[in-house]
Amino acid sequence: MILNYGENIRNFLANRKWVDRIVSKLEKNRFDKIVQKRKKLFLPDNAFLVSNSALIETLKNDGILHLPAYFSFSQEEVEDLQQLLKKNAKEADSVQTFYPDPIPDSLIKLYKDSFIENLINHSRGFSSPKKLLRLYHSTPLAEETGSFLWHHDGLFNYFKVLVYLSSVEIDNGPLAYCVGSNKNNWEYYSYERSRFQDEALNQYEKKYFTGNIGDVIVLDANGIHKASNPNPGYDRIVASLAFVDFDSNQSTDHIYARDNKLSYLKS
Ligand SMILES: [Fe+2]
Repeated sequence: MILNYGENIRNFLANRKWVDRIVSKLEKNRFDKIVQKRKKLFLPDNAFLVSNSALIETLKNDGILHLPAYFSFSQEEVEDLQQLLKKNAKEADSVQTFYPDPIPDSLIKLYKDSFIENLINHSRGFSSPKKLLRLYHSTPLAEETGSFLWHHDGLFNYFKVLVYLSSVEIDNGPLAYCVGSNKNNWEYYSYERSRFQDEALNQYEKKYFTGNIGDVIVLDANGIHKASNPNPGYDRIVASLAFVDFDSNQSTDHIYARDNKLSYLKS
């Protein structure tokens, strides 16, 4: 009875806009302080800045960058990753997903890619201490929820690198992004208030990122984005490398990073 009462109070408070605003503000202040510290530690490479200024500016201004055919994978590597997903993935947030541990050999080049990491670091002015690799398989959904609704992932610069491991046409459910929405200072991070209706985002160009196996998409997940729902008979397989900066319970990536749940985070 007392437990239920406590639960009810929590639910009541969690749904209040003013509670959400206070919690979000406190979280944002905490993140800002950590980011400021990380910015002081970052030493930019001027030669890199100059030779890649166009890509860095695109990432800064648009919040997203498409690098077609950045990686190549053999047919066998792709099939192995698809098998690995089928064997290990569990449903979470409307997709089949898991964190491969250790990192599969074919994806070590993604995990260790210094060019992409440098693009991210130079576009936001700091580096991330932890990277986490996750695999996703999306199949058609009867109801679009979770990451299939327009949303942002947090209140801070949270970057992800996606690599398509299947060919992604409009039927397969490409990643969609509101170009430039990363520059908005989002105030709330609760599930309800970090989700948006299509009509509420008319000021942005909504881009759908179709592509081929090996295409890379770098995104600031603090901009508004969503995974699109594949049409019946279609699916999509993607690897995601998340750059995590501080302890938080804001996303599964952050929880896994905080608790060092993967062997390669401990070394
Ligand atoms: Fe997201």
